[in-house]
Amino acid sequence: MDIEQRIVWIRAEIVRHNVAYYIHDSPTISDAEYDVLLRELEVIEKEYPALVTQSSPTQRVGAPIVGSFASVAHHRPMLSLANAFTVDDLLEFDARTKRFLELDPGADISYCCELKLDGLAVSLVYEAGVLVRAATRGDGATGEDITSNVRTIRSIPLELTGSTHPALIEIRGEVFLPHDAFRLLNSIRESTGEPTFANPRNAAAGSLRQQDPRITASRGLSAAFYAVGESSDNELPSQMQLLQQLRIFGFYTDPNTAVFPSIADVIGHIERWRLERNLLPYDTDGMVVKVNDFQLQRQLGHVARAPRWAIAYKYPAQQVETIIEDIIIQVGRTGAITPLAKLAPVSCAGVTVSRATLHNQSEIDRKDVRIGDTVMVQRAGEVIPEVVSVVLDRRREDSCRYQIQDLCPSCASVLVRLDSEAVIRCVNTAGCPAQLQTRLEHFVSRLAFNIEGLGGERLAQLVDAGLVQRPGDLFKLSAEPLLLLDRMGPKLVEGLLRMIADCKVIPLARFIYALGIRHVGDRSSAILATHFGSLSAVRGASVAELLSVHEVGSATAESIAQWFFNHSDTVDDLLGAGVIVEDTELQPSRDVFAGQVFVFTGGLERVNREQGEGIVRLLGGVASGSVSKRTTTVVAGPGAGSKLAKAVSLGITVIDEEAFIRLLPADVVNTLG
Ligand code: IVH
Repeated sequence: MDIEQRIVWIRAEIVRHNVAYYIHDSPTISDAEYDVLLRELEVIEKEYPALVTQSSPTQRVGAPIVGSFASVAHHRPMLSLANAFTVDDLLEFDARTKRFLELDPGADISYCCELKLDGLAVSLVYEAGVLVRAATRGDGATGEDITSNVRTIRSIPLELTGSTHPALIEIRGEVFLPHDAFRLLNSIRESTGEPTFANPRNAAAGSLRQQDPRITASRGLSAAFYAVGESSDNELPSQMQLLQQLRIFGFYTDPNTAVFPSIADVIGHIERWRLERNLLPYDTDGMVVKVNDFQLQRQLGHVARAPRWAIAYKYPAQQVETIIEDIIIQVGRTGAITPLAKLAPVSCAGVTVSRATLHNQSEIDRKDVRIGDTVMVQRAGEVIPEVVSVVLDRRREDSCRYQIQDLCPSCASVLVRLDSEAVIRCVNTAGCPAQLQTRLEHFVSRLAFNIEGLGGERLAQLVDAGLVQRPGDLFKLSAEPLLLLDRMGPKLVEGLLRMIADCKVIPLARFIYALGIRHVGDRSSAILATHFGSLSAVRGASVAELLSVHEVGSATAESIAQWFFNHSDTVDDLLGAGVIVEDTELQPSRDVFAGQVFVFTGGLERVNREQGEGIVRLLGGVASGSVSKRTTTVVAGPGAGSKLAKAVSLGITVIDEEAFIRLLPADVVNTLG
């Protein structure tokens, strides 16, 4: 196999695995094996830049855009849909359609029913089968060019699959954020002190409008497709067949789509999905009913901005009415200020709601939310409740606009808005009691030190009494001053102290997480722990070393290095107070490379060839000087020549130095320069 064939083969493999994973939800290889394929492609493309194509899987994440998004005129307008809210509306739609087509009122029309995904409409243009432009819907006539962000969505093909495709085709669908990705994103933002998104739709919109595609790539967006805009040939007979064609092209389409012979069956289907849809792993806000036959669709045409051949049935949102008793200002661990509405408790979608987020001042202004207002609240995407709107005619006459104070409600220092952020912050990191309190709450939380029994109120007591000023103080507590506090008896104090002492030994990953470093959630803590192995290694890591960790971006790397630089005393204080941080379990097995034959070629930076060969032998593998059929892996650096070419022609896995280092157990990595 020559290099070009190998490249074509790897790319096809990656596409095949993408389709299995993202379209059919049934992965055919492990993530690690997938990574190896992708790395090999990267290595070969680095060596042969002329062979890089626009739609190669290595080209998903491009450079950040500078300035605003360019505007894109849609060649055919992106229409919206008329809405139906009741069964009568659906019957009226059916009757109207038949009248327009001059059909007998007793005749039946076939309808295609698709769940209405709650995301953002996008248009993708493929020329000669290659994705060349992606745009938002915008006002329907003009949208924004979001090509580089859309390219990062792995369920979207960069090149159409299937045997034939039109010279030009525009495909339309919806980009959305599944619930698990939404929860993960918000929990990371919460643990890193950034404002959370109110619902998956907002999170998807925010993710699509990033200037840096790497951020979009990290968000876990998905997309489903349901229509063709412009096309150089368009001979399909029906919506259902169009969806089938889209699947052949490699797109994800809603698997719950179905065709029904009459509006009565459509109504039954809509009823069945009324509750069922709540079990789906993504948000839906309705059912789109489309005349299935394209010939009939063409006859029907459209009015103003919506087609006559379709209607969107909207399921009622789970909204309830309640009263805002107060607006309280929460100071987060990193000083972020979030206004919260304290509500008269009310039941909504099976849960009692007593608080709702108001996000920030501009949201308060936009909705003009005031204390005492009667409001509609909704559990959006089954997560944080939010205030949707104010019932204005129930507003009290004496109410006034709400403005967040300029001073921190806890420490009275002046709040600031950093340039790039929507949130305002209290920057009195060291002296603000509210920040200390939330930092400590995080410190003792389940995924951190897990000191049960030290809940918010008890911590507040300790902070107020001045007994705890930084985390290390928790481990220095003694019985006497505690006994002086309200509601603290000898038994309780003894239990509390024992519990704290029991938590002194902590695995590295949880320790890192407990520190509450901005941008570092539980997942990145675990990744850092496995990579560095010991606290001293993480502490001493430079920004460059942190950046070399897979999945650590520049904001995170800088935040970590800066945190350890500024808070060295916090860590020393904890260690001084008797906290023992356990090194991450280092892979004890020395036969990691058993049965494998490695060849090193080209320039290497962190390990020289002898070192590399030594490591391979240490880990039970064989190191060889020449490439043969027996070779299992070639580690290639810049300037690699004939050995690399031979490896490629034999179909042997090729990785670069970085990927090699990633295969090594952490203790071995730590021995490298
Ligand atoms: S068809 C002319 N099908 O709903 C056809 N739209 O309210 C227009 N949507 O802008 C779109 N799922 O963002 C269609 N299966 C589906 C849909 C769908 C979600 C969105 C789309 C559209 C909006 C109209």
